[in-house]
Amino acid sequence: MDLLGFYPLFYVPHFGSAWLMGLTGAIHIMASHTSVGAALLFAFLAYKAQKENRTDLYDYMKRYGMFLLIFSYVIGSITGPGIWYTATAASPRGISALIHNFVWVWATEWVFFVYEVLGVFALIYFIDKIDRKTHLKLTYTFAIASVGTLALIIGIISFMMWPGTDAYYATGSASDAFFGINTFPHMFLRIGFMIMMSGIIGMIISSAMRKENKALSEELTQKMGWVSLLGGFVTVFFFMWYVNTLPLNALTLLGMQKDTIVMNRIILAILFSVYFSIAIIKPQWVTRTLAITMMLVIGIVGVWPGEKLRETMRKPWVAGQYVYSDQIIGRDVPGKGIKDETGRLSEKGLLKLDPWIPDRLRTITPENKLEVGKLLTRIACSNCHSLEKDGVYRPLMPLAGPMGEEGIKDYMKNVIGTGSIAYMPKISLPDEEYDAMAAYIASQAK
Ligand code: HEC
Repeated sequence: MDLLGFYPLFYVPHFGSAWLMGLTGAIHIMASHTSVGAALLFAFLAYKAQKENRTDLYDYMKRYGMFLLIFSYVIGSITGPGIWYTATAASPRGISALIHNFVWVWATEWVFFVYEVLGVFALIYFIDKIDRKTHLKLTYTFAIASVGTLALIIGIISFMMWPGTDAYYATGSASDAFFGINTFPHMFLRIGFMIMMSGIIGMIISSAMRKENKALSEELTQKMGWVSLLGGFVTVFFFMWYVNTLPLNALTLLGMQKDTIVMNRIILAILFSVYFSIAIIKPQWVTRTLAITMMLVIGIVGVWPGEKLRETMRKPWVAGQYVYSDQIIGRDVPGKGIKDETGRLSEKGLLKLDPWIPDRLRTITPENKLEVGKLLTRIACSNCHSLEKDGVYRPLMPLAGPMGEEGIKDYMKNVIGTGSIAYMPKISLPDEEYDAMAAYIASQAK
């Protein structure tokens, strides 16, 4: 039988699977970025402690380390695999594309990760049990392993945006896939953000030490203010470079939301510059409540919109600019023996080629037309649009409803079907499938 390698549809009403991805991603980023940033910070603190014989810094590192273990590592290790599970359910062929390109990169990343987790335990446990020099070396290896996990995963995530080099499609090689033009700006952007996060978390720890040791608490808050400020500058600098390495579709989508994004980023930059300056000039003003509040602010107002944006900007693709968000392969990748599927779909239709369509729905009749339309709309559109009227994720009915049944069909056939919009995939189907979808959308939009 002639079928396409589809998987069953994972449908999340109202929110859409992309929101689920964004939410898991945002929580994971807070935790994982803190831990990589803290690994660099520890290397710096351990170096200072050893060189200047500052035993009090070890106490701080120990507290910070406990926080990391309980917060970052537990939450990070749950949400890390959680992202890949969510992504596998939401976009099985996208994940399959990543595995087929990067299996060894991933395996290597995992080795680094295991070292990192063992490293953080060892670092805290042995802090007052081994000599300082050995501890310092341990801290350095921990930092290298942490940054290693980041560097490897960033190549994979950047490939999701686009390979960044045309050579990839011809060779299909892992190195062409990995070293696209936006891999390095993306990597340094994240390193900057990690350094900033380590400072933001560092202030929570230092402000909590006020009662026992006021002088040390303030000195550390001040230091963390500098660390955060430095991280913030690095982030902004590389963000501007990063934007210049994005593909055309991403820039189009970015342009559509430019005003809100620019406003959001400027307000955040001002707010946090003020916060970091206060930490440097008036460290006694940074209380634990303020420090925790600012951490939540960066998560909710900074990371969450950022992650949603990254999910959005990739549209219509989900990986390598050959797997569409709706799981259809949209271009040839000769280097991997992958073939564009849009031609076959346009000729035979989803009802024939998707193996998961129930048999009773494979042929459209007046009785099942709306049911077929619903299923097809879910397959083709729900990855980017909530189908519920009150859905929160770019709801389809308010967008398409005003066009009327004929108008929707015409729009699908002549606009979406020809692939003439930068941010929607080319979904070219036989006429009767458009009919069923248009009938369903019109019936729902009423
Ligand atoms: C890969 C993601 C994606 C898929 C799949 C997708 N769309 Fe869209 N669609 C978008 C984006 C992004 C917009 C822009 C929305 C906005 O203006 O906020 C959009 C906008 C629209 C609009 C408004 C007109 C316009 O050009 O802005 C209509 C109508 C529409 N989509 C219909 C559909 C239908 C019908 C399907 C399924 C056959 C579909 N879309 C599948 C991403 C997608």
